[in-house]
Amino acid sequence: MKETKIKIKWPNNTETYASEGDDWFSTAEKAGLEIPTGCLTGSCGACEIDVNGETIRACISDIRSRKKCFLKVSLTTDPFW
Ligand code: FES
Repeated sequence: MKETKIKIKWPNNTETYASEGDDWFSTAEKAGLEIPTGCLTGSCGACEIDVNGETIRACISDIRSRKKCFLKVSLTTDPFW
């Protein structure tokens, strides 16, 4: 079975490839970025990133292509973190 590769464009203009179900933190690391973390249980919001305009919490989400095989990621900036 052929595995679908998902292309991810990061805020530092790096592009990496991931597979469905990969975790956001190690994939960001491959792009030379670190997604901030806090609780790691989905409640604090420190790890929020925008994926194709939709805000997700990276610690409780894995990489899903949502039909498109291209994801554009931005790190959200929260003045409280
Ligand atoms: S680290 Fe707290 S919501 Fe993800």
